[in-house]
Amino acid sequence: MRQGSICRTRLAFAAVVALVAAAGLAAAPLAAQEALAFSDVELERGQRLYQAHCGRCHGVLGLGGEGPGLAVSRLPRAPDHAAVIEIIRDGIPGTGMPGLRATILPDEEAALVAAHVISLRQAQLVEIPGDAERGREVFETTGVCYSCHIVEGRGVGIGPELTGIGMRRGPEYLRASLVDPSAELPVFRSGARSGFAQYLPLRAVTSDGTVYEGMRANEDAFTVQLITATGSIVSLRKADLAELEKRFGHSLMPATMNLSGEDIDNLIAYLAGLGG
Ligand code: HEC
Ligand code: HEC
Repeated sequence: MRQGSICRTRLAFAAVVALVAAAGLAAAPLAAQEALAFSDVELERGQRLYQAHCGRCHGVLGLGGEGPGLAVSRLPRAPDHAAVIEIIRDGIPGTGMPGLRATILPDEEAALVAAHVISLRQAQLVEIPGDAERGREVFETTGVCYSCHIVEGRGVGIGPELTGIGMRRGPEYLRASLVDPSAELPVFRSGARSGFAQYLPLRAVTSDGTVYEGMRANEDAFTVQLITATGSIVSLRKADLAELEKRFGHSLMPATMNLSGEDIDNLIAYLAGLGG
């Protein structure tokens, strides 16, 4: 499945380069030319080096994790190939982004990794097939998405707020989160709580046999708080628990939700437009 996605990204990238070249789009030509200067073989090497050096923080597909997603339409601090190389070399001081010295990643390899990063972004410029307006209807009606998500102040915040999701997540990620919600759970970005998996489904059983199921909202050494499916918050003392099951790799978000392929395309078009 992962391998499949990588292939799609690469194909989409080729399509976009062709599209950008044909249409002469104003925003991207510079980056497109830069990436085009690398052969397919070089780009593939860049992808492998990226996965080895960057994947653990930015995700193997660039969808983000401890570091931000790089498969997004705009990177504020890395507008072009040269800027990506500079970030690879120097890191971003004062943040979780480390610099990589030339002894670890020689200049020639850093250039290939940067080309891969640029290609991740270009794949996001692909036209999305769905119809955003119909996606909004599915979101509000049959999809029952408001029962777990907030968009612009409306809905229930059991899952992450989706206002502005189109700025943070590319279409590949959005598709994965609808088709296979447990594939990649959002993780806190940086700082002291780095690596704390958010939206972790929990099952807790107290010593008197009461069962609580919901999503972890917070946890420390002595207590755990979870949000139940109806949106109420329960705080439990670990000393009172007979059992606490953390369901890593599971999502509270229902996996099938009875959405057709067309519904999913339309939803992606709608979500991609939020905030963008
Ligand atoms: C140890 C984790 C870690 C590794 C390894 C890592 N990064 Fe990062 N990276 C981060 C974090 C965290 C940030 C966000 C920094 C901030 O603003 O707080 C970041 C930011 C960036 C940005 C800036 C994005 C923007 O918003 O403009 C780029 C580009 C980037 N990384 C590329 C790479 C590349 C390429 C590699 C591999 C050579 C890499 N990173 C390896 C953690 C990592
Ligand atoms: C029963 C609650 C529930 C319902 C219903 C639900 N979601 Fe989710 N959703 C979640 C949770 C919890 C997450 C957090 C990550 C995970 O578990 O996959 C999530 C994650 C997401 C994400 C990824 C957000 C991010 O920042 O990573 C998207 C996009 C999303 N949902 C869209 C939808 C859409 C569209 C619908 C309606 C078709 C929907 N969800 C219905 C609970 C739900």
